Amino acid sequence: MLVSKKPVLLSVVIGMILMTISYFFQPLMPFKSIAHRGASALAPENTLASFEKAIEMGFDYIELDVRLSKDKQLVVIHDANVLRTTDGEGLIEELTVKDLKKLDAGSWFSPAYAGEKIPLLTEVLKQASGKIGMIIEMKSPENQPGMTEILADLLNSYKSESQIKVQSFHINEMKKFHKLAPQIPAGLLLSKHLDLFHLASYRDFASFLSVHHLLLSKSFINQAELFGYEIYSWTISKQYQFADMQRLGVHGIISDDEKRIPDSIMYVLITPFLKGQDLIRTLLA
Ligand code: G3P
Ligand code: CA
Repeated sequence: MLVSKKPVLLSVVIGMILMTISYFFQPLMPFKSIAHRGASALAPENTLASFEKAIEMGFDYIELDVRLSKDKQLVVIHDANVLRTTDGEGLIEELTVKDLKKLDAGSWFSPAYAGEKIPLLTEVLKQASGKIGMIIEMKSPENQPGMTEILADLLNSYKSESQIKVQSFHINEMKKFHKLAPQIPAGLLLSKHLDLFHLASYRDFASFLSVHHLLLSKSFINQAELFGYEIYSWTISKQYQFADMQRLGVHGIISDDEKRIPDSIMYVLITPFLKGQDLIRTLLA
C-alpha cells in the first residue's frame, strides 16, 4: 500500500515543480495602466487632484464614476451619498450641483486636500483632454432615469483629444449607450463568470470587459480575445497581483497606485497562497 502511494506523491510534487517553473517563464506582458478613481491611494478619489496626480505619474487612463445630481448634471463621485468622501450628508440625487459644490471632498483624505470639490464630468473632460485617456463608469444607470442619454449626448457633442471609454455593470444600459454613441468604446464590468454564449452575445455592443481579478484565467482571456475583447482587471493593489495579471496577459490593469514591480522568484512561489487568501477574504466580505 505504502509503495503504491509513493509514485502518486512523487508525480504530484513533480507536477507542482513543473507548474511553478512554467508559470515563472511566462512573459510579463505590457498593459495599459488605469488609475482607479484617479491616483486614489495618493489623493482623494474622483477629484481633480487625484486625476492630476494620475497625469503626473504617467498613467494611460483615469477611471472615474459618474452619477446624476438632482438638477440632472453628471457629477463625479462613487457612492450614492456624500457621507464617506465629503463633509456633508445626503443622496447625490437629492442634491443640486450648487449644494454639492459647497462640500469639501478632500479633508476626509488629508488636510492637505482641504477644499477639494466634487467635480462635474465636464470639468474632468476639460482637465484630461489631450493628457490622459478616460474610462467613465456609469453608476447604477438603471436607477437614474436619463443618465445614459445625458452621457451619450455629452460625449457625442464633446470634442476631446483623449481616448474616452464608457463602462457599467448594467448590461441593458450599456446596450442603450452603444446605440446612442456607437463611436465610443463600451465595456461591461463583470463580478461573476461569463459563459461562452454571453461572451459572444455581448460583443454586439461591448468591446472591452473589466473583470474582477479573481475571476480571471488564461483560458477566459484566450476565449475573450477570440471574440476581439480587451480585458481589464480590477482592482489591483498588491505587488504580486501585478505580475500575476501580466502573466495572464490582461490588456489593462486598474489600480489605485501603479506599481510595475521587479518580479522575484519569491512572488512566483507564493502567488497561489496569496491568491487563495484574497479569494477567502473576498468570499467572506
Ligand atoms: O473599474 C472597476 C471598478 O471601478 C469597479 O469598482 O466600486 O471601484 O467602481 P468600483
Ligand atoms: Ca468605478
